Amino acid sequence: MIPPDPELSPRRAARAEAERLATAALPVQSAAPAEVSPAEVSPDEVAAADGPTRRERRAVTTTPSGIRALVAARGLPLAVRRRRASVLAAAVVVAVAGVVAIGAAATAGGRDEGEAAPGEATTTVVQGPPAVPAGGLPVPQLAAVAATATPCDDPAFTAALASGDDTAVIAAAGGGSAFRAAVASGIAPCVSLSDPNREWVVVNKQRPLDPVDYRAGDLVMPANVRALEDSALRARAAGALTEMVRAASDAGAGEIGYLSAFRSYSTQQSTYAGRVSVGGVEEADRESARAGFSEHQTGLAVDIVPCDGSCATLDDVAGSPQGAWVRDHAWEFGFITRYAEGRESVSGYEPEAWHLRYIGPELARAYHEGGYTTLEEFFGLPAAPTY
Ligand code: DAL
Ligand code: ZN
Repeated sequence: MIPPDPELSPRRAARAEAERLATAALPVQSAAPAEVSPAEVSPDEVAAADGPTRRERRAVTTTPSGIRALVAARGLPLAVRRRRASVLAAAVVVAVAGVVAIGAAATAGGRDEGEAAPGEATTTVVQGPPAVPAGGLPVPQLAAVAATATPCDDPAFTAALASGDDTAVIAAAGGGSAFRAAVASGIAPCVSLSDPNREWVVVNKQRPLDPVDYRAGDLVMPANVRALEDSALRARAAGALTEMVRAASDAGAGEIGYLSAFRSYSTQQSTYAGRVSVGGVEEADRESARAGFSEHQTGLAVDIVPCDGSCATLDDVAGSPQGAWVRDHAWEFGFITRYAEGRESVSGYEPEAWHLRYIGPELARAYHEGGYTTLEEFFGLPAAPTY
């Protein structure tokens, strides 16, 4: 209660009390969505309140109790109520406009900004500030985003895998480097490095053929290449060998022939047994794979030889012009030197400059550009020095 001011006339005192009561009463009414500051309520507005009789208005301007009675009975003054109503209406318009804008955006989908949907009115909607949906703002699902980052959740990738087209699979992954990265990082479990029908299959002393007597189904003899044995390659590898041999000749590197390409399980048994009989098991295991563990059984490996009139031996490849050219250019045709110098602890075999392995041009490029020297490291696999 404000202490009485002896200098106030009764009329001024009544006006002061009216102002005090009006400003004190406003917070009680403040449940309205659009708040009006108590400071905005003037005594004149109280005096102009709607509805009171002439007697009431007179009492308001003259007695504190009259003012209290009026405020309690009539609520806020008309001007205040009108102001609140107009602010509330504006808020509703803004909210509705916001909801309309969000709904329109959701409906528009991939349409360009400003483009009307078929049959949609083109009337401009005045958009308010972003409205919060009833269920709250959506929370980004980071875990879900990460979970869908694998190519195995990409329908184009899985369709390519199912088709058996290795080139299409690698293209769907985004290229040789992207495919390698996905496989090596472990996020592409749908890609099997053990599938012998794939050009990316990895066979070593820890990874036997599956089935162990696997035999490729599309073996052909490479065209226009001198074959010292009746030994075929899978069709794409055969075509690549033909191109590579022609390119080497065109480049002046000389003729490239080959000795051995596909070897069956039983042929590999004989090959390995022959090495054991000459040098024993330990030496044989550094030079020749046991049956079921040789890349030759995939139909994707070929042992080349330099031919200048007659053909030389496997041991002559490393020091020949053909060998030098192949070291620099075989990757361009999809081949890699599978058993490189100084990598026996990973590959399991002494260097073999003659043993080329076809992995396709996309992966061979990634292998070359990445500076890899073993297929195990290329795909993030463990070293395989022994059985
Ligand atoms: N010479 C290679 C390692 C093989 O026999 O497959
Ligand atoms: Zn070989």
